[in-house]
Amino acid sequence: MTTDPEPIRERAAAALLAARDRTRLLTTCVEEGDLIAQHSPLMSPLVWDLAHIGNQEEQWLLRTVGGRDPLRPDIDSVYDAFAHPRAERPTLPLLGPAEAHGYAAEVRGRVLDVLERSPLRGGPLLDAGFAFGMIAQHEQQHDETMLITHQLRTGPPALTAPEPPAAPPGPLPPEVLVPGGPFLMGTSTEPWALDNERPAHRRTVPPFFLDTTQVTNAAYQRFVDDGGYEEPRWWDPEGWAQVREHHLGAPLFWRREGGQWLRRRFGLTEVVPPDEPVLHVSWYEADAYARWAGRRLPTEAEWEKAARHDPATGRDRRYPWGDADPGPDHANLGQRHLRPAPAGSYPEGASPLGIRQLIGDVWEWTASDFLPYPGFAAFPYREYSEVFFGSAYKVLRGGSFAVDPVACRGTFRNWDLPVRRQIFAGFRTARDAGPTAADAT
Ligand code: AVJ
Ligand code: FE
Repeated sequence: MTTDPEPIRERAAAALLAARDRTRLLTTCVEEGDLIAQHSPLMSPLVWDLAHIGNQEEQWLLRTVGGRDPLRPDIDSVYDAFAHPRAERPTLPLLGPAEAHGYAAEVRGRVLDVLERSPLRGGPLLDAGFAFGMIAQHEQQHDETMLITHQLRTGPPALTAPEPPAAPPGPLPPEVLVPGGPFLMGTSTEPWALDNERPAHRRTVPPFFLDTTQVTNAAYQRFVDDGGYEEPRWWDPEGWAQVREHHLGAPLFWRREGGQWLRRRFGLTEVVPPDEPVLHVSWYEADAYARWAGRRLPTEAEWEKAARHDPATGRDRRYPWGDADPGPDHANLGQRHLRPAPAGSYPEGASPLGIRQLIGDVWEWTASDFLPYPGFAAFPYREYSEVFFGSAYKVLRGGSFAVDPVACRGTFRNWDLPVRRQIFAGFRTARDAGPTAADAT
């Protein structure tokens, strides 16, 4: 890892700039009324996200790293995510759209000055520009959150993007055998990895089969057509209660009309594309589908081993394709496209065993609860990860089309409640494999 501060400074400045470009687009493509409105009780008004982004940046980069006097200490509590649940945020004395834009820009101007003067070494917040990388990731995570708000908003489309590349021709094997044995899970060397990804530690995973691609809309539709939502035996009892209470019968945003399934996507209504990974299903729906298919969700360790471990060399990579940062030929990330690419796309992003699209397209639900790794230490604040550890949250891996590469890597961990459907999540399935001759050698 380089300790020359100049490349780190450039990387940090570029990451902050990219995040702000996206934030600006997401908060200027709709009318002011749409920034203030709450489009769903599950989400904040967009104008809350905007000033919260500025406030987190002020607290960490101006005050803590820069040692500067507070700019707007009076608004800290309004933008404290723990002080106010999302449903309540529209009733707070929020900065208006112009004020929120101005505040975020004012903070950023001063932060660039702090960055310019920082030695970028001399403690865990400064080393490798960690705090700057953390705040760029924070902004990009809220850019994904704001894109979810855009998806929940009704009305004419406000965003457009080119279509993802077509899937390469040729059938793929439906599943791949991942050999058993140890690998190194998590990281102690990735400079901007967040606390929950640390430290690296050995895990032994028995051999298993993993789907080559994510479960597609066509495959999921067979579960729907087979009466999957009417059959309690496929469902976790909590999931079945959700189906009954909310009359669930298909993924969120799907609607049956004229003998076909339609979906709403960023203000457009379209026929559900059969070859795309299924999107907007809860953990319970993913779990029920897997049981119906005679399979199961992969554990988080299985997912990471499939995404990072090269059985030929025994090395654990940063990404399925190697150690290079994600490029446009590797994965569908960063809101370049406003939908997943067809299952089987991105051959250059395949894992050493040929598993496709582990990074990008849709977050993948895993079977695992969100728990700390052995040796975990909260850094730099308990409220990023530690307060969420336990059995209430399930881990998602791999990132979606909506997340920027700075907040996505082979070790990156996301989490959410198993009932959540509005997030850009799908899944792939797994099954146990007996010990094979290869494992015995
Ligand atoms: C990691 C996506 C679950 O949005 O709640 C944003 C990221 N943390 N601000 C979230 C986050 C603080 C977090 N997730
Ligand atoms: Fe936040």
